Amino acid sequence: MKHLVKMDDLSNEEIHQLVLRAVALKRDKSPFKRNDLFVANLFFENSTRTKHSFEIAEKHLQLNVIDFDVQTSSVNKGESLYDTCKTLEMLGCNLLVIRHSENNYFRQLNGLSIPVINGGDGSGEHPSQCLLDLMTIYEKFERFEGLNILIAGDIKNSRVARSNYHTLTRLGAKVQFVGPQEFADPGLGEMVDFDQHLDDVDVCMLLRVQHERHGETLFDVAHYLQHYGLTEARYQRLKDHAIVMHPAPVNRGVEIADELVEAEKSVIFRQMHNGVFMRQAILEKIIHDNQL
Ligand code: CP
Repeated sequence: MKHLVKMDDLSNEEIHQLVLRAVALKRDKSPFKRNDLFVANLFFENSTRTKHSFEIAEKHLQLNVIDFDVQTSSVNKGESLYDTCKTLEMLGCNLLVIRHSENNYFRQLNGLSIPVINGGDGSGEHPSQCLLDLMTIYEKFERFEGLNILIAGDIKNSRVARSNYHTLTRLGAKVQFVGPQEFADPGLGEMVDFDQHLDDVDVCMLLRVQHERHGETLFDVAHYLQHYGLTEARYQRLKDHAIVMHPAPVNRGVEIADELVEAEKSVIFRQMHNGVFMRQAILEKIIHDNQL
């Protein structure tokens, strides 16, 4: 694996190895230390979890972290993404973590010699989120095959839905979608009725309604929660072993009732915690596979 920009960069075997490695790191298996390498985190879109969990993971590995700030960089003078990244390579960066609002931004970066980890591209993919989600599912079920997974929310705009749908499907899970028709992505599948499928669900994954991508359209929050969100009544119908996931940030009271965010079946904050270990595992693999 030279880069990790989409989940197809990984075989099923490599995905399983990353999940097992992240679980081992969480059980206190020390990551290797590489204080001779430099990594830059370039976040052209806002982020709390991805940016800072990569940063903490990098520091656990003792990498030298360049905190690239888009707002004070020469991006604001019109420097292109490629020129910015090539400059960082020439300055001595060994590895880049990039989030960008443009789908497939990484196709502009073929001239780089250093590896890129995708921290999310527009509505394209979010591989490190997908892998931490897989780790969290694996911790509960120790398998993916045969699981019933319901992803509810803004499917069309969600890079998490895209990465998780394709990956969980190829790992043998059944993935279905819930949400209003205007949130559907015909390339991924039809919306199903939440209440008709709730009883069989092992994993109920909620997605943020991306208000910023819906323009000026008025949004009836109470209607959305009642029809497409996780209410207390729906939560009570979930199987005992079911888990509730959300990549966050959460719109409390929109896609999930406020009081359910930390309910017993919710693993939402565990996902964030797991993100640090999974990102350590990803960094280790990129460093190893590229012989850095
Ligand atoms: N889940 C996720 O990508 O969160 P951030 O946007 O805060 O990184």
